[in-house]
Amino acid sequence: MSTLSLDVTQNGSVKSMESLCSAAEIEENDFLRLLERPPRPLNIERHRSCDERSLSELSIGLSPYPAFRNADNSSRFMDHLDVVFPLSPGRRSGFNTPRSQNGFETQTHPMVADAWEALRRSLVYFRGLPVGTIAALDNSEENLNYDQVFVRDFVPSALAFLMNGEPEIVKNFILKTLRLQSWEKKIDRFQLGEGVMPASFKVLHDPVRNTETLMADFGESAIGRVAPVDSGFWWIILLRAYTRSTGDSSLAERPECQKGMRLILSLCLSEGFDTFPTLLCADGCSMIDRRMGVYGYPIEIQALFFMALRCALLLLKQDAEGKEFVERIAKRLHALSYHMRSYFWLDLKQLNDIYRYKTEEYSHTAVNKFNVIPDSLPEWIFDFMPTHGGYFIGNVGPSNMDFRWFCLGNCIAILSSLATPEQSTAIMDLIESRWEELVGEMPLKVCYPALESHEWRIITGCDPKNTRWSYHNGGSWPVLLWLLTAACIKTGRPQTARRAIELAETRLLKDGWPEYYDGKLGRYIGKQARKLQTWSIAGYLVAKMMLEDPSHLGMVSLEEDKQTKPVMKRSSSWTF
Ligand code: GLC
Repeated sequence: MSTLSLDVTQNGSVKSMESLCSAAEIEENDFLRLLERPPRPLNIERHRSCDERSLSELSIGLSPYPAFRNADNSSRFMDHLDVVFPLSPGRRSGFNTPRSQNGFETQTHPMVADAWEALRRSLVYFRGLPVGTIAALDNSEENLNYDQVFVRDFVPSALAFLMNGEPEIVKNFILKTLRLQSWEKKIDRFQLGEGVMPASFKVLHDPVRNTETLMADFGESAIGRVAPVDSGFWWIILLRAYTRSTGDSSLAERPECQKGMRLILSLCLSEGFDTFPTLLCADGCSMIDRRMGVYGYPIEIQALFFMALRCALLLLKQDAEGKEFVERIAKRLHALSYHMRSYFWLDLKQLNDIYRYKTEEYSHTAVNKFNVIPDSLPEWIFDFMPTHGGYFIGNVGPSNMDFRWFCLGNCIAILSSLATPEQSTAIMDLIESRWEELVGEMPLKVCYPALESHEWRIITGCDPKNTRWSYHNGGSWPVLLWLLTAACIKTGRPQTARRAIELAETRLLKDGWPEYYDGKLGRYIGKQARKLQTWSIAGYLVAKMMLEDPSHLGMVSLEEDKQTKPVMKRSSSWTF
């Protein structure tokens, strides 16, 4: 096994491993005190070549988050998390090991063992190898496509296995889905882009010929016939998590993985008629895979797009083919972060500015660039917006601002550092001050608020599954717990994550790991929710493991890249 022997400081100088170890120990102690947990011995063993490209990621500086600052304003933990914290390969905190390796009794909740057992039961094998996890093991309802391995659903499973020192299944999944990408994809007579990754796949057993084959869905069988834009992004993000967790860059360096990434990037970086750097999408092309008025430039996709671009930048080889993409990515990231931070961001000050907007402005001097009509501001937003806090709104397009709050996009914005440190703090402030609305009795609302009555009829097309406060329309999804936990840890608020996890623990197991909950407070098991929903199980495990060992955060978090900082300031409440 190779060792982490070098690291790079902000000014580019190289630090020895010894000095890093002691710095890490000091900061880990600080953070663990913050978490009220006993410290563990460190074990720096991994070489993380893939991350060495981004100097700013490796930089050691002041923590942007107040919770991590000491009285003398030096940083306690966060900036170093990505740099000096060893990941813990092989440290199994799961089913097989009720005790952690350092001898401390793990405060494992009885649910953890049950969750691991259920997660293992959800494994899907192809020709003898585990290649993914089934969406739900619930046989009581018609299967629809819940008997498939979904790319997005597998992400929390993959993270759980990586955190538990079991990377093989993740590698198998990455390689298997890559093979599917090269299939010819057609919907009726129309051929989909080469780089499209499947939404899901299934293993078909032929008992007569005793063979196994794969069947994939790229949107041609999906309800609504939409291709999943998020799958390719999750695939790249997962490849980086794998590389980061194992220290094994050979998978990402394989020619087929490099090609797979380039194909995904070709799709989303292609030139067109766009005047914005955001990605134009059809409704239902991500986790919210039914019509919910999220067409246009949905935050979920923009945040995943940003994160995938940043991960690709770390993973792409600088060879003749890769180099061209690296340049295109850098340009796009610059424009995308500027656009998102400027136009998707909403806080009290910005809301007040929009409320007073002039309309019908022409030319480049316009303040209200997209001609948003103040009358289109929904009533609820004025009460929802706290004095301290803010978030990235759901969508921004011509004369269109969707003010709904979406969980996944905002959490990914924090993890990818699409949000500035101030914006990340504001997002967490908002979650804390709107706890009842966003968390209620079960974490966590997929979006807020629900569409009702006429709006529901027009926007969802009278979708009977997405009635108000149900499913995608303001339902509560336990899977989102891992994203909230990661965002909490990154912003120095582990107590907030713990509070959410404890809420989930009062019901999840008892209710049979449902897919989602309904109602304003998330009090009711979802009308059509599957039980034993794998990503509810895995999301819980990932949240638990991350809180227990915050160094896992490095797998899914990227520090701010100073180069993407825009120069302009728009609102006094956020400084770049
Ligand atoms: C539903 C969800 C989607 C998920 C799939 C499998 O279609 O909307 O996000 O990936 O189920 O769990």
